Amino acid sequence: MKTVSIINLKGGVGKTMTAIHMADILASDYGQRVLLADCDGQANLTAFFQADTTCTTLADILTADHEPCWLDNVQETGIPGLRLIPATSGLYGLDVSAIQRGSTSLGALRDFRDAVAEDGEEDWLIFDCPPGFTAASCAALMASDFVVVPVLIDGFSTAGMTDLLGQIASLRSVNPAIRVGGVLITQYRTSQAVQAGAALLRASLVPVYDTAIRRSERVPEMSFGHEPLRLFSPRSAACVDYRRWVAELLEKEGGITRGEI
Ligand SMILES: Nc1ncnc2c1ncn2[C@@H]1O[C@H](COP(=O)(O)OP(=O)(O)OP(=O)(O)O)[C@@H](O)[C@H]1O
Ligand SMILES: [Mg+2]
Repeated sequence: MKTVSIINLKGGVGKTMTAIHMADILASDYGQRVLLADCDGQANLTAFFQADTTCTTLADILTADHEPCWLDNVQETGIPGLRLIPATSGLYGLDVSAIQRGSTSLGALRDFRDAVAEDGEEDWLIFDCPPGFTAASCAALMASDFVVVPVLIDGFSTAGMTDLLGQIASLRSVNPAIRVGGVLITQYRTSQAVQAGAALLRASLVPVYDTAIRRSERVPEMSFGHEPLRLFSPRSAACVDYRRWVAELLEKEGGITRGEI
C-alpha cells in the first residue's frame, strides 16, 4: 500500500481537487482500491462525497476514540473501489489539544496506516491535508511515503514552497522515509507570467511533474455537484490532465500495486 499526503501550506491551490481526481482515477481507470482521508476541518472532501459525519471521522482516529477495526469506520463513496474517512470542523479543536498534550496523538495516523496495510484491503491511502501545519496534517505527514504538492503559479505560492520543503525535511527525524513525490502545477494557463513562473519552478531543485493541470471552468462547476470530472466532464482539459498526471505518477512510483488496467 502506498500512502500519500496532498499538501501545501497555501490555501486554494487545488489540494482537494487533486485528492478527489487522483483517488477517482486510480479506482475507476486502474482498478485500484483507494482510501481517501479528509484531514481538513473545512471538510470539502467530505461534503463532496456527501459522507455521513455522525460516524467515525478523522478526529476520532486522531484521538484514538475509534474502534480498532478500521474497516467498520470507512464509508463507501458510490464509486467502486473508493472509500472515505470523513472530517468535521471538530478537527480544529485538535490543534489546541495536540499542543496541550504534546505530540502523543500525532502518531495515530501512522498506527492507522499500519492497521490498514496489514489487512491488505487497500492499495492507496490518500490524505487531503488542510492549508498549513495542523495536528492532522502533521499526523498525515508522519504516516506518508511521499507528498504531492499542488501549486498555483504565482509569486506568493512559489515563495511558500521553500517553507513547506523545509518543514517536510524537518519531519524526517520522525518519518525518515518521507519524500517529495513532486510538485503539481494546477490551474495552468498560457499567459506569459504563468509560463515564466512554471519554467522557474522547473529549473529549481524541487521535482516537478511534467504534467500540469490546466485551468478549466468545468472544475468550479463540478464542485457544486457530487461527481468527479470523469463523470461530469470527461473531455474537459482538467480531466484529461488529471488522467495524464496519474499515469505519470504511476510510472514514477513504480506502477500499480494490484488490480488491472
Ligand atoms: N484546474 C482547475 N481549474 C479551475 N479551477 C480550479 C482548478 N483546480 C481547482 N480549482 C478551483 O480552485 C478552488 C480551490 O480548489 P481546492 O478546493 O481543490 O483547493 P485546496 O487547496 O484544497 O483549498 P483549501 O486550502 O481551502 O483546502 C476551487 O474553487 C476549485 O474549483
Ligand atoms: Mg482543500
